[in-house]
Amino acid sequence: MSQFDRNYSYYRDLFKGVGFPYAFVDLDLFDENVRQIAKRAGNKTIRIASKSVRCKELLKRTLAADPIYQGLMCYTTLEAVWLSQEGFDDLLIGYPSWQDSQVQEACAEIAKGKTIIFMVDLPEHVKQLDKIAKQAGVVATICIDLDMSSDYPGLHFGVWRSAVRGKSDALKLWDTIKACPNVKLNGLMGYEAQIAGVGDNWPGKGAMNAVVKFLKGISVKEIAKRRGETVEALKAAGADMKLINGGGTGSLEWTIQEPWVTEVTVGSGLYNSGLFDNYTNFRHYPSAAYGVEIVRLPKPNLYTCHGGGYAASGAAGKDKLPVPYLPAGIKLLDQEGAGEVQTPIVYTGPEKLQLGDPIYLRHSKAGELCERFTALHLVSNGKIVGSTPTYRGEGQCFL
Ligand SMILES: Cc1ncc(COP(=O)(O)O)c(C=O)c1O
Repeated sequence: MSQFDRNYSYYRDLFKGVGFPYAFVDLDLFDENVRQIAKRAGNKTIRIASKSVRCKELLKRTLAADPIYQGLMCYTTLEAVWLSQEGFDDLLIGYPSWQDSQVQEACAEIAKGKTIIFMVDLPEHVKQLDKIAKQAGVVATICIDLDMSSDYPGLHFGVWRSAVRGKSDALKLWDTIKACPNVKLNGLMGYEAQIAGVGDNWPGKGAMNAVVKFLKGISVKEIAKRRGETVEALKAAGADMKLINGGGTGSLEWTIQEPWVTEVTVGSGLYNSGLFDNYTNFRHYPSAAYGVEIVRLPKPNLYTCHGGGYAASGAAGKDKLPVPYLPAGIKLLDQEGAGEVQTPIVYTGPEKLQLGDPIYLRHSKAGELCERFTALHLVSNGKIVGSTPTYRGEGQCFL
C-alpha cells in the first residue's frame, strides 16, 4: 500500500462527528496530483482551469506549489473580474464574453493594470469588445479560439465551439482585429476536447476503448498540423502570437509535443474527478470526494444514504453519475442511481456498516462538486487540518 492509497476507515475515523453531507479535499493526494501534472507538462507552463477547481484557496495553493503553474483560465467574465479583485492576475477567459455590463467590469480591471484576456472566434465578438474597450478607454487583449474537432464520415469527433476552423478563417478574423484599434491579439487557444475530455480506458468497454484510441490517434496528428499552420499563418500576417494554449488534463502527453504550444491548461486532474479515472495515459489520485450518511437499511447489503445525487453536466448518461468510492466495492443501483434525497448503496464487503456511518462518493466532473457545498474540509496526514470556502461558499455562482 503506497502512502497515497486510502481506505474507508481512514476517512470515516477522521471525519467522526462532522455533519453530513460534507465534501473534502485530501491535500496529500491533491499535492501529489499537482506534482504529477507538473511532470506531465514537460517544458510548457500550466494555466489552471478554474472551473475545475472553484475554490480560491486551492487555486492559490497550486499556483504557489511550482512556478510551472502560471495564470488561470476563467469560465466567465464575472469570474475573471472577481478573481482579479481578489488578487489573482493573468486571467484568460476561455469562452466568449458578450454582455456590455460584464465586459465593462472586466475593462475596469484592465484599466487598473490587470491582465484579463478575452476569447473570440467571430468578427462580432471582436467588434463588441472593441466598442466597449473604447468606451472604457482601454485596449482589450484577445485570443482566438481555434476549433480543434475532427470530422470523419458520419462523425463529428469533438465539440461545437469555435467558428474558426483553420488558418483561412483565422486570417479573416485577423483582418477584422486589425481594423479595431481597441483590441489587440496576443495568441490562440485550441481545446482538443475529443482527446482531453474523452477517456479511452473504461472498464469492461474494450471495443469502445479501441475505437476511441484509434480515433484519437488520427485526430491528434490532424489537429496538431491545424494548430501549427494557423499559428504560422497568423505570425506571417503580422499577428503577435505570444500565447498558444492547448490541452486539458486528458491530453497533455500529445499537446506538449507541439513546439508552437506555449502553455497547457489543466484543472480536473487536480481533484481527479470520476471521469478522469478512465485514461490510459495517466492515473492521478482521487483527491476530492464527499460523504453522505447511511440513514436506512431496507434489506441486507443495502444501505440507503441521505442525499448524494450530484450528477454532472453534459450528455446524460451513467458516466455522469457520482462514482462510488469508499468502502471499496460499493455500487449504485441502476434503477435509482444517486438521488435528490436518497442514494441506496449495495455493499457486500467486509466493513460493518451501520446507521450514521458515511459512504464516500466522487463527483464525475471536478469543479461541479463545489456547486453543491459551501466549504471543503481539508485533510492531511490523518487529520482535518482546515476548511476552505468554495466559490458558492463565498456567495459566488457564475454558471
Ligand atoms: C477551453 C478549455 N481548456 C481546457 C480545458 C481542460 O480542463 P480540464 O483539465 O479540467 O479537463 C477545458 C475543459 O472543459 C476547456 O473548456
